[in-house]
Amino acid sequence: MKPEIKSSVEACIRVLDKNARAGYTVPSAELYPHQWLWDSCFTAIGLRHIDINRAKREILSLKRGAWKNGMLPNIIFNDSSINFDHNLWESQQEPAAPKTVRTTTITQPPMLAEAVIKIGEKLNKQERIKWFESMYKTIEDYHKWLYAERNPENNGLVIQLHPYESGLDNSPPWMFLINKQRYPWWIRSANTHSIEVIFNHLRRDVEYVPSSQRIGLKDALECFYLVRKLKKTHYGYTPIKKSRQPIMQDLVFNSIFIRANKHLLSIAEEINRDIPYDLMQHMKKTEQSLEILWSEQHRQYYSRDFNNKSLIIRKTIATFMPLYSGSISRQRAAKLVEDLTDKNSYWANYPVPSAALDSRQFRPDKYWQGPTWMNANWLIIEGLKSYGYKELAQELTRRSLDLINNGVYEYYSPLDGSPKGAKDFSWTASLAIDLAVR
Ligand code: GLC
Repeated sequence: MKPEIKSSVEACIRVLDKNARAGYTVPSAELYPHQWLWDSCFTAIGLRHIDINRAKREILSLKRGAWKNGMLPNIIFNDSSINFDHNLWESQQEPAAPKTVRTTTITQPPMLAEAVIKIGEKLNKQERIKWFESMYKTIEDYHKWLYAERNPENNGLVIQLHPYESGLDNSPPWMFLINKQRYPWWIRSANTHSIEVIFNHLRRDVEYVPSSQRIGLKDALECFYLVRKLKKTHYGYTPIKKSRQPIMQDLVFNSIFIRANKHLLSIAEEINRDIPYDLMQHMKKTEQSLEILWSEQHRQYYSRDFNNKSLIIRKTIATFMPLYSGSISRQRAAKLVEDLTDKNSYWANYPVPSAALDSRQFRPDKYWQGPTWMNANWLIIEGLKSYGYKELAQELTRRSLDLINNGVYEYYSPLDGSPKGAKDFSWTASLAIDLAVR
């Protein structure tokens, strides 16, 4: 390993040590003091190279948040760091929620199967079978829950009920979807300067990160308001539809789900389990239905507004996630690669921007509206490799690792690589380790 990469890896290990808690890793000590679902999966993927038992513990610790119905929440709260979030979600009101920990009541992209497989790669056959056996049921139950509760068209495309479920909170398609809802006056007037000053005093995130790098105030209040509305419907799909909540068939979520289903199959095979017939049928449909998210007119994939069944035409990083799903044709993959390497849209100095450089929504510093994120790059690199684009995958790996020279941050400007968001961020550290080691 080159000396500069070695020193970056050492910096990443220090971040993961700093963020270690009892049995899991927080995304960043100040801004995110709880356990997040897909963060733990990404974190474990890097940890497996340093301390395989810690990687396993990271994943096993997610089980304590599992709901009786199989749902895995996007956050398991750490009770010693009480804040406003606990009171907002009130999982204790829901019969299926766990009794021993408090959680949110929504999920996040299903990265669990990937983390379990990646840890398995580091184990010998006997250990791997034991490891898979310890996680199989949690993954199967979770995927079954997604089909039972989130598959209203029965075509396998699962729905998401809140921007946080996509993992890309303020990504342009989600903001388009939620901005068109009706809100009370105090949200409608949130863009006025005086209201912004008052609310910014109450926001935790802007204590640590400049507000110009975070979700906009009006968008944040809308997200907050939607949580309260969701809570009133007890997260059942039918009442949500009646109350006209925004509902998305999110491209990132569904692409990750397709790959996760394939991983579930491999895990089942290795431990000699039969996947239930119904689940198999659903899994096949999801793969076929990805086509619904393709626009022949724009020759790109998009997320879909479930309420009016239309694709949301916004150029974002999501369009590359079908590469990661591994379920598209070589021709489609070639088209996505062409877009990815287009200097006007995505091939920035520090690729890959979360919103296209030439889109109206592009902001180089603003969270999921432009900055480059290590996890998105990691997913794209995995996709490129699976379609045989080895050199491009290497180039993107090299450029992703360059970012770490500027510190281990939550995200980076795609224009100059300057660090943005939370400092000492866990998945940036762990995925950089994974990319460097491999
Ligand atoms: C932000 C990100 C989300 C992540 C969380 C914790 O909300 O948008 O994807 O899981 O932070 O890092």
